[in-house]
Amino acid sequence: MKILVTGGWGQLGWDCREVFAPRHEVLALDLPNLDITDAASVDGILNLWKPDAIVNCAAYTAVDRAESDVAKAWHVNRDGPALLASRAKAHDLFLLHVSTDYVFDGTRPIPEPYVETDAPNPISTYGKSKLAGEREIEERAPRHAILRTAWLYGAHGYNFLKTILRRAVNDPKKGLRVVNDQYGSPTWSRRLAHQILAVLEADTTGLFHASGEGYGSWFDFASAFLSAMGLDAEVRACTTADYPTPTTRPTNSILENAALKRAGLNQMKDWREDLQAFASRYRDSLLREVAH
Ligand SMILES: NC(=O)c1ccc[n+]([C@@H]2O[C@H](COP(=O)([O-])OP(=O)(O)OC[C@H]3O[C@@H](n4cnc5c(N)ncnc54)[C@H](OP(=O)(O)O)[C@@H]3O)[C@@H](O)[C@H]2O)c1
Repeated sequence: MKILVTGGWGQLGWDCREVFAPRHEVLALDLPNLDITDAASVDGILNLWKPDAIVNCAAYTAVDRAESDVAKAWHVNRDGPALLASRAKAHDLFLLHVSTDYVFDGTRPIPEPYVETDAPNPISTYGKSKLAGEREIEERAPRHAILRTAWLYGAHGYNFLKTILRRAVNDPKKGLRVVNDQYGSPTWSRRLAHQILAVLEADTTGLFHASGEGYGSWFDFASAFLSAMGLDAEVRACTTADYPTPTTRPTNSILENAALKRAGLNQMKDWREDLQAFASRYRDSLLREVAH
């Protein structure tokens, strides 16, 4: 298969390229070489390279910044997928799109997870714009799969774990405070890339939740990571009220991969096992990256 990965230099796009490459022809592009909101840019690549499938990892992912950069977030997260979907239809391509747990309001009691048939009700600009992107794809692209993931981390790019590691390594005496009243399903981007490939190869369409199995709080996530890295840094639990941010985040972001399991396609693993595997694989390079 010839697979075009958009947002190909981001956290997930990078792993998609690495995971797909041994079995398929992959072209991973990002800004400025491919802008998913620019018709000339998208048409140019599609006409030149003629892929069989597009995996859209491009997105406006700065959740807090989106609250003051609303038009840009909507343009990338709604209009970009709409353009890709219309071109997927015109060229009869499979379009696999990545979405988010933030389409839910998170008010469900913990640990009851959200499944694909639950009604979304996003509470942030990021979540609203991502849901609008899903709708555009559902309306326009006949052959599509949407995978909603959550709390993504990987070796490439920025993420919560690298912020925690940077503080733990560079300022160990200061101590870390991490919120312990928001729950979700941490997801390794490399595992998700394998899951995306399984859906593509099965040529299966629909809406799927695809996050790490199980759940924990941000505090659990940070503590498990530092322990997997063999670091003895102090992490203290705090509440969301202690740590205000520009965006209200869902209290319960726990996703259940129900549709993948029904389709016999679930590749997602226990989040703690994946975190351990991630730390073992990338420990040295992560420590080098965050060092002063
Ligand atoms: N990160 C998470 O915790 C998380 C959680 C749930 C769902 N997701 C979803 O998972 C997907 C992948 O996220 P990620 O963490 O890999 O994000 P990421 O690291 O921010 O990667 C997104 C990439 O898209 C690029 N991009 C932005 N606007 C673009 C445009 N108009 N055209 C082409 N590329 C553009 C970005 O470039 P710049 O960096 O130059 O802007 C970046 O390289 C996204 O759909 C995201 O919404 C992420």
